[in-house]
Amino acid sequence: MALFVTLTSLAAAQKPATPVDPESGLLKDEAGTWKVARDRCTECHSATLLQQNRTSRDGWIRTIRRMEEDEGLQPLGDLEKQILDYLAANYGVQVRPSELRRRRAPLRQPPLADGG
Ligand code: HEC
Repeated sequence: MALFVTLTSLAAAQKPATPVDPESGLLKDEAGTWKVARDRCTECHSATLLQQNRTSRDGWIRTIRRMEEDEGLQPLGDLEKQILDYLAANYGVQVRPSELRRRRAPLRQPPLADGG
């Protein structure tokens, strides 16, 4: 019994993973914006496309424009900022600080213009 209590309290102390909505597959944020994204972004395709296309906020703006211009997404209006915040936070790109530290200058510099 004592062991059981210890194990469960250890598990509870760990930061819980972001819950996933089983139906849409979207990550559930606390503000509930995932429902807005579900309503506007999974009517034509599943959330898998969102998960597979992690990108920066700018990348998400370009994706939304493309959805509007080529695929028939109705303009998001006031919801656009919310959806963008949600996408950038949950389906953004994360660069680990350790990766930043390892960057160095490129070995080859671009060639200088040859005076022509
Ligand atoms: C009216 C239908 C429709 C809606 C609504 C829609 N999409 Fe799409 N989306 C598509 C289609 C169709 C494709 C596949 C295009 C292709 O394969 O060239 C696609 C593809 C994608 C892709 C794959 C990468 C790419 O650029 O093709 C992403 C990411 C994506 N959609 C994100 C979104 C997001 C985010 C939203 C909500 C803001 C959204 N979609 C709403 C129709 C839609």
